[in-house]
Amino acid sequence: MNNFKRTLVTTALPYANGPVHIGHLAGVYVPADIYVRYLRLKGEDVLLIGGSDEHGVPITLKARKEGVSPQDVVDKYHQLIKDSFEKFGISFDIYSRTTNKIHHKTASEFFKKLYDNGAFIEKETDQYYDEEAGTFLADRYITGTCPHCNSTGAYGDQCESCGTSLNATDLINPKSMVSGSTPVMRKTKHWYLPLDQHQSFLEKWILEEHKEWKPNVYGQCKSWLDLGLQPRAVSRDLDWGVPVPIEGAEGKVLYVWFDAPIGYISATRELTPEWEKYWKDPETRLIHFIGKDNIVFHCIVFPTMLKAEGSFILPDNVPANEFLNLEGDKISTSRNWAVWLHEYLVDFEDKQDVLRYVLTANAPETKDNDFTWKDFQARNNNELVAILGNFVNRAVVLTHKYYEGKVPLMGETEPFDVQTLESIPAIISSVEKNLDQFKFREALREAMNLARLGNKYLADTEPWKLQKTNPERVKTIMNISLQITANLAIVMEPFLPFTAQKMRNMLNMQQAVWSDCGKTELLKPAHAINEAKLLFEKIEDEKIQEQLDRLARTKTSNEAENKEAEPAKADVSFDEFSKMDMRVGTILEAERVPKTKKLLKIKVDTGIDKRTVVSGIAEFFEPEQLVGRQVCILVNLAARKIKGIESQGMILMAEDADGRLDFVAPGTKIKPGSQIR
Ligand code: MF3
Ligand code: ZN
Repeated sequence: MNNFKRTLVTTALPYANGPVHIGHLAGVYVPADIYVRYLRLKGEDVLLIGGSDEHGVPITLKARKEGVSPQDVVDKYHQLIKDSFEKFGISFDIYSRTTNKIHHKTASEFFKKLYDNGAFIEKETDQYYDEEAGTFLADRYITGTCPHCNSTGAYGDQCESCGTSLNATDLINPKSMVSGSTPVMRKTKHWYLPLDQHQSFLEKWILEEHKEWKPNVYGQCKSWLDLGLQPRAVSRDLDWGVPVPIEGAEGKVLYVWFDAPIGYISATRELTPEWEKYWKDPETRLIHFIGKDNIVFHCIVFPTMLKAEGSFILPDNVPANEFLNLEGDKISTSRNWAVWLHEYLVDFEDKQDVLRYVLTANAPETKDNDFTWKDFQARNNNELVAILGNFVNRAVVLTHKYYEGKVPLMGETEPFDVQTLESIPAIISSVEKNLDQFKFREALREAMNLARLGNKYLADTEPWKLQKTNPERVKTIMNISLQITANLAIVMEPFLPFTAQKMRNMLNMQQAVWSDCGKTELLKPAHAINEAKLLFEKIEDEKIQEQLDRLARTKTSNEAENKEAEPAKADVSFDEFSKMDMRVGTILEAERVPKTKKLLKIKVDTGIDKRTVVSGIAEFFEPEQLVGRQVCILVNLAARKIKGIESQGMILMAEDADGRLDFVAPGTKIKPGSQIR
């Protein structure tokens, strides 16, 4: 590990078709940031590269759905993602994007070089074509009936009902999602990367030379290799992406999974004129942080591309994580089942480190894990507040109380003091060992052990009881407590950078340096420290309940979304319909019906008369909002008594799938009394 001169750390480029959520953070960005901050503290030459993945079919689909251009979509989300990463303290050296000119140029050149090297094979295949829209259809653009489970609405690449991955040609009754028409087969030519030709190289390189990779990564690679690799198309018929830079390839772009990893190179190139040093010098260590769904692309496809190009280094490690679930369910952007970073930053202002802590303490490093708001609250209250915050606060407050904020000279020591002091370097080296092996959860647990050590030390020695009787011993205890605090101010920096900075401010410490860690005289006697500031605060139940309520609402509305419309009722004749007398009316007054939750008493000008109607809409409207509103009212419904009030007619409401009610009303002002027919 020490034979390397520099480290290049990349993070999977998130698709710019939605904001970033806790799953992305826990899987990729938080661990990468911890790692890079750690190396920087050690004074190593390291870069953290990130950016938005702005090509691919999902982005064009989203743009179509919203009636905007793909560029509009990626502009919006790129900015949102970039800003929220920055506020969250992910310390990118550059956060770029794949619609940049320099990326198009870099990806284009890369393809051309492989093409010229004869690294591709050309194949003509049959592909679905939408004659109405005049375009070839990517698998995602086609829906139909799943041949396995028979559910409708399966996609050309996957059935989301039964999870089977499909080919578009497997679908029964395929329909284009662009025009709705039935697609036809057409011939099209594409370029393929013949992974099969690189099989033996990859087997040797991964299975023999990288046995140290995480078991989940190594295992996935092995099963791909055992299955036998197939050629993969690196181009698509699409009008959004990097155009295929050769003649006769009009209307074709590079497959998003071909251009996106090259984005790491483009971003480095954009950042520094020395980019080649980071990508081509064998003394550079290249590390890809990704989620498990990206393993094949980073361990097999991209390395094959780099190798075929000829001048690039290959990744040294790919510490991919498993998935994080949310309250027991798979995180999903389309189902809005997520904790969105940009929303968290608003709801929990200045609590970046709380989320960083929880996501690291519960990181899906070896298996899928679950994020729950209860656990979030418990870890904040019982660990950050009760252990770390409490210890640091006591150390600083007591120093002010006993010594006017000056670090006391160490007095005589007892065996327990010495033992405590000696535990510090041992804990630090355990943190280090775990960080070096990408075991961030364990590393954080060890770092917290330092705070636990301090907390326990104060609790056991109880300096506040000794100050009268044995002030010399108290000096020792407080000195040691402050040394532990100073160590925490460094060792926590990779994990909790905002908190570590606050601690250094409190302790009046200079810039953190990793090699100071483990030292027991970090703060010299008589060194003046600053006032205590609270590092963490308790999170109350109400705050957590708000988040749970929000998720519950999402669940209800998703269920409603999936509900099918009621089938039509039996036919009525026109005469029967004409018996109903419906008019436009205007609401004159509205008030709650006392002792009911749902009922409003409403006075309506029907044009014929002014009458009272009782309506069950109080959950959805405040009475004051209603005055002046136009409504449709059935005026010849026989009057009936509701809660003692005579209700004369019925105001027509539309009921949404989730039970929400809204008025059916004319779109422009209509004279009260006008007929509805
Ligand atoms: N956008 C992809 C995803 O979210 C990741 C791309 S990583 C890169 O799964 F290597 F292609 F950049
Ligand atoms: Zn299915």
